[in-house]
Amino acid sequence: MLVTGSSGQIGSELVVALRKRYGRERVIACDINPSGEESGPFALADATDRAALEQVIRKHRIGCVYHLVSILSAAGEQNPDLAWSVNIGSLRNVLDLAVRYRMEQVFWPSSIAAFGPHTPRTHTHQLTVMDPSTMYGVTKVAGELLCNYYFLRYGLDVRCLRFPGIISWKTPPGGGTTDYAVAIFHGALREGRYECFVSANTVIPMMYMPDAIRATLEFMAVPRGRLRTRLGYNLSAMTFSARQLAKEVKRYLPEFVCTYKPDERQKIADSWPKSIDDRLSRKDWGWKPRFTLREMAEDMLKNIQPDWEG
Ligand code: SER
Repeated sequence: MLVTGSSGQIGSELVVALRKRYGRERVIACDINPSGEESGPFALADATDRAALEQVIRKHRIGCVYHLVSILSAAGEQNPDLAWSVNIGSLRNVLDLAVRYRMEQVFWPSSIAAFGPHTPRTHTHQLTVMDPSTMYGVTKVAGELLCNYYFLRYGLDVRCLRFPGIISWKTPPGGGTTDYAVAIFHGALREGRYECFVSANTVIPMMYMPDAIRATLEFMAVPRGRLRTRLGYNLSAMTFSARQLAKEVKRYLPEFVCTYKPDERQKIADSWPKSIDDRLSRKDWGWKPRFTLREMAEDMLKNIQPDWEG
């Protein structure tokens, strides 16, 4: 198995989980930067470079790719050309090579960012309006369509999940609109305060990393005949406003002060759903989230500050 973007927020934890389940040597981590904490085989390669990627795939006889390389929403607005070429260029490389080398499976994360201002914002349905206003979102919609096409045209077993914002403590996210939900914990523990870049009322669906990893593993283990869509599956776990999150942190750190100073990311946040209808995931492959806001916050604080007693 190959995990591209292995040094990123999801990659750094997915690699560890896959190695635990399938064996250290069977999982090749791949990134343009080593994480510095490699727990097994690592290939230095840029997934937008088809020849370099092909070399890694041949050398390690890869049969399955978890393709996590991506420029996130806020970073993508700084450089839309780069977001398109990295997100779509690398995905096409992976899909073409997966067909050429007759791979068994490909996993690709889509996102709530695939939705847009005209999408119904609550209980957003699986099949609905998708008119993203960020280049990141455009690459997610285009990417889902590409995945579906490769399934229809070549029979490639490619699977996508539409992740909500992902909260984790091991590796920081970078360049996303949902990053405040991670940064708030670090601000609270280090300085007792945090200036949030979206308004207090901003509500975005989120998920704690252990649920995201478990979702990925369970989803990839389902027999292919059970899946009814090759576009992204909606996925939901928890949803809360920035104020509710700050309140939750304050339960443990009563002195914590959160202030709000919305910047250009507010507009992005406002274009995304507030809650997601993930019934198709529940039906087709048995998805069920475990972590609530309260459990997530407690676990985050405990792990960011190892001597934390709660
Ligand atoms: N976490 C991502 C972002 O904020 C959404 O997929 O860009």
